[in-house]
Amino acid sequence: MNSSLFAAAARWIFSPVVGSPRSMAPSPYLRKSFHLNQSVKSARLTVTALGLYECEINGQRVGDQVFAPGWTDYSKRVMLQSYEVGSLLRSGENVLGAILGDGWYCGYVAWKDRQNYGDRPKLLAQLDVTLEDGSTLTLTTDESWKTAVGAIRESDFLSGEVYDARMELGAWSQPGYSEEGWQSVLTEPLSPALSIEERLGPPVRRIDELKTTKLTLITDWNQVRRIYDFEQNFAGRVKISVRASRGTVVRLRFAEILDEKGELYTENLRSARCTDYYICKGEGVEVWEPRFTFHGFRYAEVQGIKKEDFVEIVGVVLHSDMKPTGRFRCSNELLNQLQHNIVWGQKSNFLEVPTDCPQRDERLGWLGDAQVFVRTAAFNMDVRGFFHKWVRDLRDAQSKEGGVPSVAPERGYTPGEIDGGPAWSDATIICPWTIYLCYGDKKILADHYESMRHYFDFLTKFRCAGHIRSHWTADKWGGYGDWLALDGSGKTDGGTPKDLIGTAFYAHDAKLLEKIATALGHETDALYYRKQREDIALAFRRRFLTPDGLVVSGTQTAAVLALHFGLIEEGEPRKLLAQELARDVEKRGFHLATGFVGTPYLLEVLETEGYLDVAYKLLEQETFPSWLFPVKNGATTIWERWDGWTPEKGPQDKGMNSYNHYAYGAVGAWMYRSVAGIELDSSQPGYEHILFRPRPGGSLTWAEASLDTPHGTTAIHWEKTETGLQIELTVPQGTRATLQPPAGYGAEQKLEPGRHSLTLKASL
Ligand code: BGC
Repeated sequence: MNSSLFAAAARWIFSPVVGSPRSMAPSPYLRKSFHLNQSVKSARLTVTALGLYECEINGQRVGDQVFAPGWTDYSKRVMLQSYEVGSLLRSGENVLGAILGDGWYCGYVAWKDRQNYGDRPKLLAQLDVTLEDGSTLTLTTDESWKTAVGAIRESDFLSGEVYDARMELGAWSQPGYSEEGWQSVLTEPLSPALSIEERLGPPVRRIDELKTTKLTLITDWNQVRRIYDFEQNFAGRVKISVRASRGTVVRLRFAEILDEKGELYTENLRSARCTDYYICKGEGVEVWEPRFTFHGFRYAEVQGIKKEDFVEIVGVVLHSDMKPTGRFRCSNELLNQLQHNIVWGQKSNFLEVPTDCPQRDERLGWLGDAQVFVRTAAFNMDVRGFFHKWVRDLRDAQSKEGGVPSVAPERGYTPGEIDGGPAWSDATIICPWTIYLCYGDKKILADHYESMRHYFDFLTKFRCAGHIRSHWTADKWGGYGDWLALDGSGKTDGGTPKDLIGTAFYAHDAKLLEKIATALGHETDALYYRKQREDIALAFRRRFLTPDGLVVSGTQTAAVLALHFGLIEEGEPRKLLAQELARDVEKRGFHLATGFVGTPYLLEVLETEGYLDVAYKLLEQETFPSWLFPVKNGATTIWERWDGWTPEKGPQDKGMNSYNHYAYGAVGAWMYRSVAGIELDSSQPGYEHILFRPRPGGSLTWAEASLDTPHGTTAIHWEKTETGLQIELTVPQGTRATLQPPAGYGAEQKLEPGRHSLTLKASL
């Protein structure tokens, strides 16, 4: 599907008003008035923009998508939407209108200047109308459209929106409006180089509204500042209702935490201004919500209005519209809050692409973060469509040599641009594989297969020497290491050698590619990847195993990767390394030290190697550094770093300190899979065969989870009893299940669809 959807006469249209790399321009309004000589049977509006758009017909908003048409690499492709709009049209004069925002196309993105893809937003639209008598007519964007600027003076993701209500254009998208002062649009032909395609994946929508009564008033001379606490960190914006005199400038600022004086702490936003302004027209209660911006925040400050003025505020939660699918609960309330925080981390960051964080001047689709979290994400929500779309972004970002950057969509954010480094660029194999496992979705593997092969060849050709990836002779940079681990003597990339991480992930890639090739029926390829994996594992052992069987550097992540990716020989060598890992965890008083790379597998490895008790001690640890330390300190989302805030130091380094980064929330998958016990069988993906494998431990007396699988809802609830375990299970129709009880609770049991209530006795 591409530009041929549009009639030959269709043109991109845009305003003569333009900003610069560092200055913003007002949002253009565009309109076309047209006449229909009879009533309408049906009509379809097909529309897209370079930038963001919202359309109106005869004064009515079209659709409910936010930030349409979505984020893609606009140098290659842009997505379109189509809407049934027959009911909005009528016989006589009609108006089709649009407002454009800068968005990812020409606004500020990350730490770079504006105008990353183009200098101003552009609209492309076509309205296909079938009239009552069956005749049809087509209207497209062309030079006959008119444009003006109005109340939206600035509109930018990172900076915020400035709205001067005194400059509103009135009923601009309605018939009978005078176009005085409006000018002709500029036009541009469609380029064959830009693919215009149907939207893939769910759009962003307004998902929820948060109300709050928690308010602090700070009086500054004749003004009051109001600080509202939504009691939840989230991505979105506020809708305000205000009554104040004409020309009153209402300033809205946002923050995730307060400083020690109770004021907004905004230093961690870095260069993002994150401030909205609303200038009142002074006509009673005015209600306003920005259109083309979002912030990451828990606190909103309203400044500029007098004590006696009226103001009300509502938080508007925005994210990609994914169906919630999973629920987890257990007898430890702190773990329930952790689950809540993981879900809100996901909500806040699954906004068009999986972003690292929603608040500072970053908000990019970081691959490392996404690959560690994808399994957890697929428990909490239906992320299949979301990842189909983003995996295509990965293909668009792949270099001709086959390298995959660390961010997608990519626009010069990756050092060197073509290689995202170990555990980041490998998302290009790990994410589609995980989506296949969770949804039984072979299409994502088939669509992406050539790209994955190309990527693996790139690693082999350009990044490895003697099967060692990130070998210093082949890769001077080596990647981000075990990002934000605490064992790196203060360095952000931790203490685990980069070539060790690189080689471990290279071996993992080969293993996954063997499985993917097998699933797709490419037998010869599968054999090739199997051989590659053997050679890489051998090289890993030669280089990174010490003569007495430990892994160089001695970090937990080094041991975790070696064990989890099966790079250590079975039997004694494995046992020895696992013992050493458990000993190190204990030595740290059951506190965490691992970073983005090692943490996601840590508990699973401990469990598999027979240290379930140690895994639970880590999970339930409440003192720093641990998952529950932020929870104990009032967190409502997952923090970027273990030491994001400590009582001794307060907030960490402002240059890198988000309170809404989902990566460490990757522990959520272990909570579903092992604490509650819902697991898939990778030989029958998509939960066709469900494995119930609860692993009670720690302080827990009960746990439960449910998951809406492609076949229906499955659920488990277990409870400790005097003599063993009482388990309630739900097996959806059309699936099969096996209960794999914890050690000492009897033998495996096969289960048919339906509900089961089982009493398991513990053997002494
Ligand atoms: C991001 C991370 C990301 C990293 C790369 C950071 O700035 O916020 O989450 O993965 O850079 O190491």
